[in-house]
Amino acid sequence: MDNLLIFEKSSPGRQGYSLPGADVPLYPMDELIPPEFIRSAPSMLPELSEPEVVRHFINLSRRNFSVDGNFYPLGSCTMKYNPKVNEEAAGIPGFDMIHPLQPVENSQGALKIMHELELMLCEIGGMERVSLQPAAGAQGELAGMLMVRAYHEAGGEADVRDKVIIPDSAHGTNPASARLAGFHVVEVKSTPEGLVDPAHLREIAGPDTAGFMLTVPNTLGLFEKDILEISGIIHDAGGLMYMDGANLNALVGLVRPGDMGFDVVHFNLHKTFSTPHGGGGPGAGPVGVKALLAPYLPTPTVEIEGGRYFLDYDKPLSIGRLQAFGGSFGVLVRAWAYIRTMGAEGLSEVSENAIINANYLLARLKGHYQPAHDRFCMHECVFSARRQKERGIHAMDIAKRLLDYGFHAPTVYFPLVVEEAIMIEPTETESRETLNAFIDAMIKIDDESAADQELLKNAPHTTYLSRLDEAEAARHPVIRYIPS
Ligand SMILES: Cc1ncc(COP(=O)(O)O)c(C=O)c1O
Repeated sequence: MDNLLIFEKSSPGRQGYSLPGADVPLYPMDELIPPEFIRSAPSMLPELSEPEVVRHFINLSRRNFSVDGNFYPLGSCTMKYNPKVNEEAAGIPGFDMIHPLQPVENSQGALKIMHELELMLCEIGGMERVSLQPAAGAQGELAGMLMVRAYHEAGGEADVRDKVIIPDSAHGTNPASARLAGFHVVEVKSTPEGLVDPAHLREIAGPDTAGFMLTVPNTLGLFEKDILEISGIIHDAGGLMYMDGANLNALVGLVRPGDMGFDVVHFNLHKTFSTPHGGGGPGAGPVGVKALLAPYLPTPTVEIEGGRYFLDYDKPLSIGRLQAFGGSFGVLVRAWAYIRTMGAEGLSEVSENAIINANYLLARLKGHYQPAHDRFCMHECVFSARRQKERGIHAMDIAKRLLDYGFHAPTVYFPLVVEEAIMIEPTETESRETLNAFIDAMIKIDDESAADQELLKNAPHTTYLSRLDEAEAARHPVIRYIPS
């Protein structure tokens, strides 16, 4: 496989496709476009034949790892297989070609989808209202935190309630969102069991508490068994409960955030509800609220009056706009189609299968890798490579070696509270055969860590490139083609 950029393969005059001659009159360019906007030199676009273009991109795609190609157990990311029928739904021309400035009179179908999705997410989350605006989980968090702030402002307490409590195991976006919304972050410690310590929480919650951000199941894949006590502590202190719902594929259909005492929750549609996650594509992180936060929702909201849908911008207490137009509309259509096709029973099965798969991995691997917490887990299980570290092998080496066996690596070194963390999220969409093949590879790697450390330290051996200087790539990325 060559290593040339498509620009370097270009050959002047070569064409990818021959179009028939125009069957409409040709106008001189300068009658249509003001002369100052017309190019004086040809563009520097590459010129190639069709097979050259096809081969170029097919070969590039083969160097990539995708969930369509193989198992991708990246913890906390829910890299599950998404049914292609939902892609088809999002591609229906009435949705795909809709113009964001189209008047509401002829966007009624799109608004209906949005309205129904809001109702379904309200039901799933146990919430009163949902805004579909946020374009990512992190933006849902920010929206939630801004609403918490607006709520305390309305109560005249914003100056004193300036602290948000977050567990030490939290995803990094939680403290970042709280900070962006103007709060100070206070850390609550986890117990040796990996759960929030209610005694410590009681000590730090008080009149300066604006809220508590909690991921359920938490980032160790564990259900917070004291959740009702925790929400009681925060509410008694006058704070609000925020749930990071990024791990909802362990709960959907089984328990509802609203019933656990949460006042606000975000959903990662691009994890739980059928949009491929990763690769920097569009996402959606709708945020749901109980009635007390509804006045502060981002604008516009989709409303219905006399059977007609409309966008309501008239919300004087709103935190304002987060996105242009309707947010990531295509992602919303996929989520709507997914929820409708799965139905209530199907969604509960999603959670049950996600939990069964993770517990199966935990049970079969714990003789080889040390579990961070050796107890029933939810949709993901976390191990520590402590045993392998004693042989000089790190979580990173194990992750790299898995690529040689054809598997994407699990998440490593997160959550930060676990030394040499390996966080595996098998997701609900994988078969027992796939899980067994992955388990076999993990066991072989454990054997290799005893027998041949160099093999692991230099892995991967079968990929197009082996180990990259990731820090250099992040700090000095070369992303622009500079012709020689
Ligand atoms: C637990 C958790 N919270 C929040 C987020 C943020 O979601 P997003 O990547 O959509 O901003 C993630 C993302 O992976 C996550 O795993």
